Amino acid sequence: MSDLSDSAKLLIDGKTIDLNVYTGVEGERSIDVTSLFKDHGLTTYDPSLGNTAICRSSITYIDGERGVLRYRGIPIEQFDRPKPNYIEVAWALIFGRLPDDEELSQFREMLTRHELLHEGLSNQFMALPVDAPPMAILSAMISMMACYHKEFLLLEDEKSLMGAAARLISKIRTIAAFTHRRAMGLPFIYPDPSLRYCANFLHMMFSLPYKQFDVSEEMEDALNLVFILHADHEQNCSASAVRVVCSAQANLFASCSAGVNALWGPLHGGANVKVMEMLEAIYRGGYRPEDCIAAAKDKNDSFRLYGFGHRVYRNYDPRAKILKTACDRLFKTLKRNDPLLDIARKLEELALKDPYFVDRKLYPNVDFYSGILLRAMGIPTDMFTVMFAIGRLPGWIAQWKEQHFAEGGKIIRPRQLYVGNPKTDYIEMEKR
Ligand code: SDX
Repeated sequence: MSDLSDSAKLLIDGKTIDLNVYTGVEGERSIDVTSLFKDHGLTTYDPSLGNTAICRSSITYIDGERGVLRYRGIPIEQFDRPKPNYIEVAWALIFGRLPDDEELSQFREMLTRHELLHEGLSNQFMALPVDAPPMAILSAMISMMACYHKEFLLLEDEKSLMGAAARLISKIRTIAAFTHRRAMGLPFIYPDPSLRYCANFLHMMFSLPYKQFDVSEEMEDALNLVFILHADHEQNCSASAVRVVCSAQANLFASCSAGVNALWGPLHGGANVKVMEMLEAIYRGGYRPEDCIAAAKDKNDSFRLYGFGHRVYRNYDPRAKILKTACDRLFKTLKRNDPLLDIARKLEELALKDPYFVDRKLYPNVDFYSGILLRAMGIPTDMFTVMFAIGRLPGWIAQWKEQHFAEGGKIIRPRQLYVGNPKTDYIEMEKR
């Protein structure tokens, strides 16, 4: 392995175990324990895997201490450009470099060609309760894509992966929009092949029969940026779930459905809904931000400052910075303000001065401002995590591809520290 750089010694039971040390491109180091159990019957204990590299990856780099995030080496700030282009970023994450003009237009054409759902899949919506959780629908529909696209259950080359990726990235929009329409009791609005990715999504969400929704350029740009900022984040909970399922040689649809389910959790992608609910409760209840900060610090109070803190970032999440500016930009264009944005800003100002947050290095994360931007676009709160999933899908596909095509890819199967009963005999019922 080219990144072998050093060695480490483990002293245990009076013997010294020599371990290889690998160094990543940015100087991060990792101790190789891959033969620790086989050769020495030992495991390492790391229940949240926060100290464990589960793969080599070249997709995304994060430096949590410095608040750095790069996609294929490109700093995230450079994607906040006049016309942000989510599909270009999706292509780069999956295929390893920025596409040229021809590659991008070919991929765009594939997305347009595959934007419709099989009518059999569309009909499934009618069987669902109108108040079904959107993330339950999304994970089910993505899994069910395996029923209608059996030709993509086995992906053995880049061409077939591109075909599956295009169908997933295109259809996830349609599934999300149909989910919203079903919940609102509105007729499905089919995708319009003349529209670009984000404009088409907003069209399916908000147009009415004979009344096309007018997507402003600012809105389309803001949505491209939101999806770009959510597109990948190295080995986060949902990306790791995708890798674990992929490692069993499960298909891409099954693996991405697992990613949706992991993202649903309120500590992960579900946090953007919790942030909005928190801000709305503060606004409606007329609570003082100062009291909310006090509650967030109080261990006896279940209140948590959602949108704050991060497992990796011990600095300001660079995505939150960009989203905060994007909120200002969009509200300026729309010539309106949102009182929830003022509350969010005040909470941030108080927390960043408070030793509880400063000492624990708790800063705003991607979820803190994203909901305010989505709300400004008219996206309902219960669809926020679905929006996160749409953005994150190319990242999951890129992580799946790396895992699936990795040389010697083995099934991911951790060990444990057994703390249960010692050997125990069965007790007949009459003796219990
Ligand atoms: C995402 O991994 C990724 O990359 C995820 C993500 C991605 O793009 O994929 O970035 C997306 O999931 C962003 C995070 C969204 N979640 C939230 O906003 C939920 C609120 N945040 C927390 O629950 C928490 O900060 C986590 C889950 C994000 C991180 O948890 P850690 O690293 O395990 O930290 P911890 O729970 O051990 O907390 C350390 C201390 C504790 O206090 P003490 O025990 O030291 O006294 O910080 C406190 C926690 O109580 N703390 C908070 C807090 N977050 C942590 N206290 C109040 N409010 C908070 N939000």
